[in-house]
Amino acid sequence: MKNDYRQKLHLEPRKGWLNDPNGLCFFNGAYHVYFQYAPESPLGKGGKCWGHFESPDLLNWTFTGTVLFPDCPDDRSGVYSGCGFVKNDTLYLFYTGNVKEEGDHDYITSGRGANVIMVTTKDGHNMSKKKTLLRNADYPDYCSCHVRDPKVWKEAGRYHMVLGARTLDSKGCVLYYVSDDLENWEYDKTVYGGDGSFMWECPDAFALGGNSYLSVSPQGIPPEKYRYQNVYSSGYFTMNGDVPGEYREWDIGFDFYAPQTFDAPDGRKIIIGWEGIGDIPYTNPTTDLGWQHCLTIPRELSAREDGAILQTPVREIEKLRKAKKTVKSGEKEKVSLPFEFTADINSDFELIFSNILKITYRGDELSLVFTDESAGCGRTERFAGLTECRNIRVIADMSSVEIFANNGETVMSSRMYPGDTDIVISASGSEGLLYQLDGMKITYNE
Ligand code: FRU
Repeated sequence: MKNDYRQKLHLEPRKGWLNDPNGLCFFNGAYHVYFQYAPESPLGKGGKCWGHFESPDLLNWTFTGTVLFPDCPDDRSGVYSGCGFVKNDTLYLFYTGNVKEEGDHDYITSGRGANVIMVTTKDGHNMSKKKTLLRNADYPDYCSCHVRDPKVWKEAGRYHMVLGARTLDSKGCVLYYVSDDLENWEYDKTVYGGDGSFMWECPDAFALGGNSYLSVSPQGIPPEKYRYQNVYSSGYFTMNGDVPGEYREWDIGFDFYAPQTFDAPDGRKIIIGWEGIGDIPYTNPTTDLGWQHCLTIPRELSAREDGAILQTPVREIEKLRKAKKTVKSGEKEKVSLPFEFTADINSDFELIFSNILKITYRGDELSLVFTDESAGCGRTERFAGLTECRNIRVIADMSSVEIFANNGETVMSSRMYPGDTDIVISASGSEGLLYQLDGMKITYNE
């Protein structure tokens, strides 16, 4: 059957453009996933809004519509990215109101307003009046007007906020603010990574397994063979007090950016990313069909002893497993999207989606290579340096593939565009388990 590229395991809008996940939280008995949304343009044109999905169980989702619009002077050019913070029976949403002034500006050092705005909601979609909490004048004077993407959390009895920023001399950094009431914020400190980037977007500070982490999406880190292969990176620092330690990328596939973490009611730390990146040299054919981009499958996080974070698809996804089959090394198997493939590996290994792509582990290197140009739409190859590969788990949806190696130590996410819903797979080196998957249930109220 011809593949219409509508995802069954990933959240995406029916029309228009999606980018960053925003306001992720569990509130009022449901998971809430907001996202950067341009409902009228699959190319992301026009002022950004927030769209909203909610779910009781991460499997049954409702799209309730567009819930925040650029409709006040302080956010008139876009309701940019931000977060959700639950206090008592209220969800507080913080975002960046983007303002582009008329006139002759570079929009880096002048002409851009970056306002931190707060709204509250009791049900996730009906919003209070907007209140501006911070403006450009409240940021350190060495900042350019690129300051955005608030993330708020509570620690040691106080509220904390991080904002991503670009300094006037083009260094990526994060600004920290503190507050006792969520409304009045006081500047605390600036943290730099010295990573060669010019801007850090979408910061997130969180604790996991006794460690403190700072996640950022840096722009402009020079590419290397096994790292920073995308135009913009996204990863996390292990923090030693105020000093960032090692930086590890969240995902080294073609399509991953601007992730955000949140806590599930059972204590799990979950991350969701945008399964896309801005300013990429490759394309998505859904643009011609009226929509573009999706979010990743939510992933559970756990910290390894050395500080590395493992990512595995939320366990709820396992409830979607249907028929199970062993695929022997060397055998070919016709499968329908969506499906999952898992294998324990002890030597070289290859998984081929015929006429689409291959995933190979050989000689300390894991690679994802598109073997068909039209299925990759400009995506070519990505590499990870891995001294051993003990296992692999692959989740393929109608137009994406997510690869988790070594229990989620290394992750690669990519969009793919096979012409048909049926594809032929073959594994060599080890046998694997194949599951056909049911889709999630997604209802669109708009
Ligand atoms: C990241 C980003 C954010 C910004 C938003 C605008 O992809 O550039 O920094 O708030 O997208 O849509």
